[in-house]
Amino acid sequence: MEIKADSRPFYEIECDALVVGMFEGEKAEEGALAEINQRTKGVIASLIETGEFTGKSGESAYIHNPDDLKARRLLLLGAGKQEEFTTDNVRKMAGTAARTLRGKKARSFSILRRSQLPIGESAQAATEGALISLFDPDKYHTSDKTEDHLETMFLIASEGEMDEVRRGAERGRIIAEAANFAREVINEPANVMTPTELARRAEDTARSYGLEFEALDESEMKDLGMGALLGVAQGSAEPAKLIVLRYTPKTESSETVAIVGKGITFDTGGISIKPSDGMEKMKYDMAGGATTIAAMRAIAQLKPSVNVIGIVPATENMPGGRAQRPGDIVRAMTGKTIEVINTDAEGRLVLADAVAYARKLGATKIVDLATLTGAVSIALGDVYVAVLGTDQAWIDQVLAAGKRAGEKLWQLPLDKEYREQIKSEIADIKNVGGRKAGTITGAYFIREFVEDTPWAHLDIAGTAWNESGKPHLAVGPTGVCVRTLVNLVCG
Ligand code: BES
Ligand code: MN
Ligand code: ZN
Repeated sequence: MEIKADSRPFYEIECDALVVGMFEGEKAEEGALAEINQRTKGVIASLIETGEFTGKSGESAYIHNPDDLKARRLLLLGAGKQEEFTTDNVRKMAGTAARTLRGKKARSFSILRRSQLPIGESAQAATEGALISLFDPDKYHTSDKTEDHLETMFLIASEGEMDEVRRGAERGRIIAEAANFAREVINEPANVMTPTELARRAEDTARSYGLEFEALDESEMKDLGMGALLGVAQGSAEPAKLIVLRYTPKTESSETVAIVGKGITFDTGGISIKPSDGMEKMKYDMAGGATTIAAMRAIAQLKPSVNVIGIVPATENMPGGRAQRPGDIVRAMTGKTIEVINTDAEGRLVLADAVAYARKLGATKIVDLATLTGAVSIALGDVYVAVLGTDQAWIDQVLAAGKRAGEKLWQLPLDKEYREQIKSEIADIKNVGGRKAGTITGAYFIREFVEDTPWAHLDIAGTAWNESGKPHLAVGPTGVCVRTLVNLVCG
């Protein structure tokens, strides 16, 4: 779908639908609604009068053949309370509009701006919302596929705002396409999305957008002493890969941000095998890795002025004749020894070596993201991403980036007291900390390998998969944190 800025009056734009948000308590006869009401012979007044439409967020009304508009339909969407309206409402409303109208076979629609939010940010949010809403995980349907006839979304603004709208829409498109790329990769079944295939997608991305690409194989990892990552990989017939993407700005920078994403292409649990109920979902255990590659793709296009490295430790976690056993002791790249109590706590093992490698490559700041713990769903449900880390200034930057992206992030504590839970009698550390504070002890484990580099950890196990679908979002992979990471690096 193409996004076009348009400075014609809303009633002059020929399209399949005009989309208008209405705030709670707005009157049909006042302000911007008055003209629409007049041109539609009082439809809005009548919707308000009957109580059919009050402007509450989530409400909608679809009007056929509105009288004096060149649009063939009018879609009214509840915008909620005017004083609580943010760019995230713009994102969700544009998403709801695009998804709804696609279902009604529309080819084009226009959106009337209803708020005083900065115009460029609004255009970006509307573009992100619309494009992200149109993704569906139905690639493997051979019939009854979602039909998409949408060709154009018009963003209505004044003549003087055209440039800003175009710039915002362009940034929105780059970010939304990156998020949808992540969702496509996450959605692939594990027999397709092997570590080798994930590396190939990263290489394609590098070639298309101008990034450096490298993938270490198992023998190179062995030479580097990555015993924690290789311990997880040894149960699988699929060779592990350590994927590295590198972005270098035109003018030299002393800062290097490393984005490190967990890339377990299938998590059976290993010898500590998971119950079979729902195990099919564990194909999304590479969501952190896919998100890292996706963020690098957008970063390559938006060209920030810092060095950025994307690192994805990619392997399956399988039970096999060669699989590691509970009780095994492995040596990580940093030299620390790890007692593997539970082979299902594999994410922290692969990340231990990946964050150490990030430091070796010169990272001055690290952010890792992982579907690390089931416990994060117990703490925060599918609403908030958990953030933990060592450097409050860096964490604050991550939180602020999330806020601007309309992604919800909540910080959990990481006090020294939690170290007790992962103390081992026979090695430097063990890979599980018991039932209490599972998300925190998981993060604490990674911390031990990050040492003193400023670091933030995002646990996306609760938020990377959407179980039920929403008016603005398909079921399946959400692409969560692509937007946050891009904002973090690109400002
Ligand atoms: N990949 C899982 C975490 C997960 C669970 C992601 C549910 C998405 C949905 C991770 O590798 C895992 O198995 N974690 C264990 C850790 C435990 C053994 C300490 C968990 O959360 O149960
Ligand atoms: Mn696991
Ligand atoms: Zn896992």
